[in-house]
Amino acid sequence: MKAILLAGGSGTRLAPMTAVVTKQLLPIYDKPMIYYPLSTLLLAGLREILIISTPHDLPMIEKLLGSGADLGVSFSYAAQPKPEGIAQSLIIAEKFLNGQPCCLILGDNIFYGPHNGIEQAASLTKGSFVFAYRVKDPERYGVVTLDAAGNATSIEEKPAQPKSPYAVTGLYFYDSEAPAIARSLKPSPRGELEITDVNRAYMQRGELKVGILGRGTAWLDTGTPDALLDAAQFVQTIERRQGMKIACIEEIAFRKGFITAAQLEKLAERYGKNDYGAYLRSVLEE
Ligand code: DAU
Repeated sequence: MKAILLAGGSGTRLAPMTAVVTKQLLPIYDKPMIYYPLSTLLLAGLREILIISTPHDLPMIEKLLGSGADLGVSFSYAAQPKPEGIAQSLIIAEKFLNGQPCCLILGDNIFYGPHNGIEQAASLTKGSFVFAYRVKDPERYGVVTLDAAGNATSIEEKPAQPKSPYAVTGLYFYDSEAPAIARSLKPSPRGELEITDVNRAYMQRGELKVGILGRGTAWLDTGTPDALLDAAQFVQTIERRQGMKIACIEEIAFRKGFITAAQLEKLAERYGKNDYGAYLRSVLEE
């Protein structure tokens, strides 16, 4: 399975923080936001990743992440000229996907907790799979209802009266049909190709499965300055307590066996004597 990391958008809700840099490059405690969704993909064992962003931000993201070779993975890059919807990423990625199933993750989605269900979803070949998470304010998200077997029974984008407390997270798994479905969509009243419409198309075929991320998992919001600070403090609390990092992509690449100890040592050298470099060396000494 191939993966798409969508990291564009206008970022207007966080201006002026996002006046010159995309939201996904803002820090969440000790690393750029984009490291977190990237770590979710790497932990799921996905190594061929297309990163999509605005023409303005793409060169900066490419400078940050490079080809992926030093992490034992492959990053490709594509521009989304205008933020015309999350589903448009499936059309932009069509050539890259080359008829394979895909995982799409939004660049501002931070997951923390057991990843078992996600790894399993990454082996999907037919239909689609999304993850839902119970939230206090479902009206801000895509909202899904499901039956006892985990089949979606309704899905709505930002409904005024949500039918359930379950928000659809920004982590989607699709079979090879997804780009064709995205191409068949009409823009919504807000002028976007909606990912919820892709999911509804799968639901209407009886092919939208939903996994609930339980209460032991954190799906953090990054939509407001307060949410950003909360997310940073959440990461800080756990990292300080355990002395282990969340979403350290170099560590994940090493523990997953994508790179050798010698390669990790080389990556650590990049950071000299700073805390991040010291942490990578401590992983090697374990
Ligand atoms: O985070 C999960 C939610 O993401 C889902 O529950 C919703 O169903 C889904 O529509 C989406 O909600 P938002 O409308 O809040 O998404 P937003 O416009 O904030 O964009 C999410 C990310 O995708 C953000 O990092 C920017 C990026 N993006 C968005 C659009 C519309 C792009 O790169 N290009 C785009 O055209």
